[in-house]
Amino acid sequence: MTITAIAHPNIALVKYWGKRDIEFNLPSVSSISMTLSQFCTKTSVEWDTKEDQFILNGDIQTAGSAQKVFHFLDRINLARPPCVVVSQNNFPTAAGLASSSSAFAALALAGTAAAGLSYTKTELSVLARQGSGSASRSIWGGWVRWNKGMQKDGSDSHGIPIAPIDHWEVCMIIAVVSAQKKSTSSTIGMQQSANTSPFYGQWVETAEDDVQNAEKALQARDIHTLGEAMEHSTIKMHATMMTTRPSIRYWKPKSLALIELVESLRTQGFSCYQTMDAGPNVKILCPKEEAHAIAKHVQKITQCHILEPGPDAYLC
Ligand code: PMV
Repeated sequence: MTITAIAHPNIALVKYWGKRDIEFNLPSVSSISMTLSQFCTKTSVEWDTKEDQFILNGDIQTAGSAQKVFHFLDRINLARPPCVVVSQNNFPTAAGLASSSSAFAALALAGTAAAGLSYTKTELSVLARQGSGSASRSIWGGWVRWNKGMQKDGSDSHGIPIAPIDHWEVCMIIAVVSAQKKSTSSTIGMQQSANTSPFYGQWVETAEDDVQNAEKALQARDIHTLGEAMEHSTIKMHATMMTTRPSIRYWKPKSLALIELVESLRTQGFSCYQTMDAGPNVKILCPKEEAHAIAKHVQKITQCHILEPGPDAYLC
């Protein structure tokens, strides 16, 4: 039987960078995200086939990404039969647009259902986290906090929905500076940062305050306090990346132009704030009623998409 699931990527407002455990993929910091509308990963899993096969965006995968997928399915059932996984993203893959978050959330949901298992959302989040940390947040729509947790086995390190999809009429404008695959994978980058950045300790120490401030601001629908916390978390993460040896710099000249645009739009009265992940694209949080006017300015620099809060991952 083939089971299909759809999951939406999420963008972190308070960022995750750094692992306290590599085997279970446990974060050193908690984080908060917004799940996105429109962008999605659709994944079908056929359980019990002739051989393992992974097709991503129409191409058969043989190297690392296939290994990751089948290793992930082993976590569902170590004695599993061969499976065929077909996955399609309607947005660029591995380009700092959070494709791994929707990928492993969709695979967790489709994979467990194809294996005949019925997991709770929390169990799915724990499982998805082991494929990609940010995927633990994409099980839910709306706004999600991923607790770093204390347990060694990671059983308390999963997403928690903190506000539903209709909590707040805001948009995330995705300014696409480059749709190419990123140069440094987040897993490798995080390890290098933990081992070599002199800022890493402070990054971890100060993250919990950002989570608390951002969550309060989110509940109060206070875009200025939330936006300020998001920009602060973002710049601390990128400072930690940049001071890694060798330096990890995802910014491109257009990324900086967009950051300056956001600042200048604020002086003109717009309530917009930016964030960036492991890639050069800039994501801009703003009230829904301002989104089209802001996007017009963004389009003078690069193409963009206007997205709203998106839904939970679901079976088709
Ligand atoms: O889920 P990963 O392992 O691809 O890491 C994501 C890390 C960032 O996107 C840079 C930040 C985040 O919290 O999503």
